[in-house]
Amino acid sequence: MRVLLVGSGGREHAMAAALCESPSLDQLLIAPGNAGTDALGENVTLAADDISGIVSLARERQVDLVVVGPEAPLAGGLADALMAGEIPVFGPTRAAARIESSKSWAKRLMARHGIPTAGFATFQTIHESMAHIDTLPEGPVVVKADGLAAGKGVIIAESRKQASEVVAEMIRGQMFGEAGSTVVIEECLEGPEVSVFAFVDGRTVSNEVVACDYKRAYDGEMGPNTGGMGAYTPPEFWSPELSARIRAEVLEPCAAAMEAEGAPFRGVLYAGLMLTDSGPRVIEFNCRFGDPEAQVVLARLDSDLLEIANAAANGRLAEVEVRWNDRAAVCVVMASGGYPGPYKTGRRITGLDDIPAGARVFHAGTSKDGDGATVTAGGRVLGIVADGTDLAEARSAVYSAISAISFDDAEYRTDIAARALDAATL
Ligand code: AMP
Ligand code: GLY
Repeated sequence: MRVLLVGSGGREHAMAAALCESPSLDQLLIAPGNAGTDALGENVTLAADDISGIVSLARERQVDLVVVGPEAPLAGGLADALMAGEIPVFGPTRAAARIESSKSWAKRLMARHGIPTAGFATFQTIHESMAHIDTLPEGPVVVKADGLAAGKGVIIAESRKQASEVVAEMIRGQMFGEAGSTVVIEECLEGPEVSVFAFVDGRTVSNEVVACDYKRAYDGEMGPNTGGMGAYTPPEFWSPELSARIRAEVLEPCAAAMEAEGAPFRGVLYAGLMLTDSGPRVIEFNCRFGDPEAQVVLARLDSDLLEIANAAANGRLAEVEVRWNDRAAVCVVMASGGYPGPYKTGRRITGLDDIPAGARVFHAGTSKDGDGATVTAGGRVLGIVADGTDLAEARSAVYSAISAISFDDAEYRTDIAARALDAATL
């Protein structure tokens, strides 16, 4: 098969590597890809959100399947445009991508179908938001921009007063522009947070897999929120019972609800959940793999990703087996100094050829300079991944691989998966 993968992050490099393991793959195109995907296929200079450009490329190159990594082109209607041209696509339509692109739509869907989530209300005016905040008990309040805000549209206000200030800034467009013109005000939940993933073909929901993501920039959950600084799988507190409960209470009802409402979901359904004392509750749904969660969960996929994506794109997921193995995997992201704030690019990366066996490097923000050397080109630069029979083995392999790689001002967290090991020794 000839496959076009859309995106340029570490997630897409990991997806490209998994697609390359398929005996059915003849050719892989990546738009736009990065310096890592360049070694696995043909990078095509086209922005991931250039919908007409991607449709034309798929047609010209007679692509059999388009696999979409990031949310923005899905929210922009890439899958609809491909389907209109009868090009199979693994990724939801614009209407189904609202599960991520409109938090208020997702919240109302959950409310209509009894999917457990945090209590919430949505508003478009400062006046109504303030009146609502006044009715809440004193304590933290979660305020979210309704639209896509690159994972940064959530503010946990310490008090009702602070929540009112945040709402006013969001609605005036000072924080997230148009994405904040509708705000969602939510009950603040407590408990461990997990990312659960399943493949969906509109109806069938595959076996699920779960990972923990580290969103804060610095060790000890300090610093600003980022796209994700590391991940591990499986969580130390995971159990088959928890998996079955989440499947029955969240994943299957969500897919069924979307089908019933005329927006069937095809692609990777990602449920961000908090495991509260009163059970699992959805924080958000996303319409794609997480980054860097994809880098660790794909390390545990024993089945053929291309076969799964193709079956899901064609409504035949029930015919393929999706098997996640019992191994553990850890990913640590190396970022440019300053990320998620301003940072420099063009720094040469050394040591990429000295990675110990067992570890892998997935590129994110990288490119080649005029001499063909790999240089930094973004905030999150590399994701180093290792698997092992348990998290201790995977974690130690990742950190020994990282010590081989360097670039000026590189930053990474040193505590990824540490809490899982602490829990094991308690
Ligand atoms: P999101 O972009 O929706 O994933 O939110 C970013 C982060 O904010 C989440 O990973 C949670 O840690 C936190 N968060 C979001 N919603 C809530 C909530 N209702 N209660 C507590 N924390 C939340
Ligand atoms: N790592 C979180 C996300 O991809 O949204």
